[in-house]
Amino acid sequence: MRHPITPIHCRPWTLNGLSLQLIESHYENNYGGALRRLNAIQQDLERLDFASAPGHLVNGLKREELVALNSTLLHELYFACLAFGDGRPTEALAQALARDFGSVDRWRDEFVAMAGALAGGSGWVLLTYVPRDHRLANQVAAEHTQAIAGAIPVLALDVYEHAYHIDFGANARAYIDAYMRNIDWKAVQVRYEDACGVAPPRPLEQPEFGDIDAVSVEDVRAMMQRGDPVQIVDARPRHYVSRTRDIMDGATWRDPERVQEWQGELSKDQPVVVFCVYGFHVGCRTARVLRDAGFDAKYMAGGHAAWRAIGGKTLAYG
Ligand SMILES: [Fe+2]
Repeated sequence: MRHPITPIHCRPWTLNGLSLQLIESHYENNYGGALRRLNAIQQDLERLDFASAPGHLVNGLKREELVALNSTLLHELYFACLAFGDGRPTEALAQALARDFGSVDRWRDEFVAMAGALAGGSGWVLLTYVPRDHRLANQVAAEHTQAIAGAIPVLALDVYEHAYHIDFGANARAYIDAYMRNIDWKAVQVRYEDACGVAPPRPLEQPEFGDIDAVSVEDVRAMMQRGDPVQIVDARPRHYVSRTRDIMDGATWRDPERVQEWQGELSKDQPVVVFCVYGFHVGCRTARVLRDAGFDAKYMAGGHAAWRAIGGKTLAYG
């Protein structure tokens, strides 16, 4: 595949404090250079016989391809982020920034500080939307490649020296200030809205247990910390527990094969949280039996493994 050049989105002659010469040089030499490198690398890859190519060659070319592709993409975003304006986020974006950073000023302080910290080195500072969390985040991207997996950058600040030395010499701080004055916030808002339309990664689905309520390990921990009344039942299979070494603090182990025998020991006045090893069938089935018997029972999603994964306290057992 040959990657075509993207025409420059911003109108360089309208920008405030960033010269035509700087923007043109950046677009033609650095963006253009990355794109030309990308196409050349991909041509080399197309000619490669992967069955016989030495590992170092494949490794080197694929890494170079990643750098060139991401440099191309980020430069296209960079030039699409610039316009003459008042430097103030649109109302919708101001609300999103305040939601995710505390305030617009707090976001700006972090973003600018990250760029300042890169000055003298090199890299990108990105405002990026993470569909998994439905949130915006600031990130540093060194080597053009450190992108948050699955996230969508909506604003890109190039802090490589080639982005400013023609106008500002070594004064990266003055360049960063000029960039902040020239952000095309309307375009950023459109990209943000597009990013918000990207579905988060699909959650684990267990349609066969769709009728049983789940509770997260984080919520169970919060209930315990608050001292909420709750009965926690560890219903890991006997064969599993017999070779395990620990049990969730606050839980009582009960054999899931014998639920009819022990359910009478539980109170119907307090909620029951039941779990198995990973949160699949055993915990769900046990929760259903208890619920059908009149208990306020839920299963703990992710089970014992998720409890351990969040650093939940366990006690020695067996
Ligand atoms: Fe650049």
